[in-house]
Amino acid sequence: MATVIDGKAVSAKMREEIAAEVKEFEEKYGKTPSLTVIIVGEDPASQVYVRNKEKACAQAGIKSEIIRLPEDVTEEELLSKIDALNADAEVNGILVQLPLPKHINEKNIICRIDPKKDVDAFGYENVGRIMSGDYDFLPCTPAGVMELLHRYGISPAGKECVVLGRSNIVGKPMAMLLMHENGTVTVCHSKTADLAAHTRRADILVSAIGKAKFVKADMIKEGAVVIDVGINRGEDGKLCGDVDFEQCFDKVSAITPVPGGVGPMTVTMLLKNTLTAAKKQN
Ligand code: GUN
Repeated sequence: MATVIDGKAVSAKMREEIAAEVKEFEEKYGKTPSLTVIIVGEDPASQVYVRNKEKACAQAGIKSEIIRLPEDVTEEELLSKIDALNADAEVNGILVQLPLPKHINEKNIICRIDPKKDVDAFGYENVGRIMSGDYDFLPCTPAGVMELLHRYGISPAGKECVVLGRSNIVGKPMAMLLMHENGTVTVCHSKTADLAAHTRRADILVSAIGKAKFVKADMIKEGAVVIDVGINRGEDGKLCGDVDFEQCFDKVSAITPVPGGVGPMTVTMLLKNTLTAAKKQN
């Protein structure tokens, strides 16, 4: 019988642990860890993500501030906002919700955040440190996946690990983290020839391609661990992952559901990074 990897339960437990550490931090330093989130424009998905981050901060006792800027804000205005937050000792973590409007260069914005406050770990200093295996922060989604593997006693060491997707936010750092833990990693993407030949070899398959129910039972190996990072709308309008869960369930040894798998872990890791940032700054 396959194990359903319960990200919601792991998240709830971790958030309790983080809330307890936040209290300890307050007792020790007389201040509260804080996160500032900048959101530009009205993208509906981003609005939902930012609200979830705000709620999770409040539950963990982390102070959060949301700065809402209009769609037509200039790059210069956004950069000067980040400069002010970098200089503000009361702000421990800074996150700029992506995507940004087309007229703003995301790279310039992400790299302007002080690396010590870059709780997304998207800035180039943190990316480089992750490459070298010498880091304080990991990007929240891949970090959440690793945490789930650890807490379910699944080690990538010596295993064939296949990552679907090569984004800077998920696929690339995911591959790096699996490699750091001695997995043999293959990264597949939209130009990969015979993708299923790769996925069928995977002991651990991580999918982050954003295609509803793309991974079918005939694409996975018997007994594989399947981690589904996708959040998509299926033809029925319901939320679903990249993996056809019903089809694959009988074949896997463990699988994450959508919703309730990787999703809640992403926000939990952001709380953890904010706490780490606060500790490092004090
Ligand atoms: N947009 C989608 N995912 C993310 C994320 O993890 N961080 C930020 N800042 N924006 C996102």
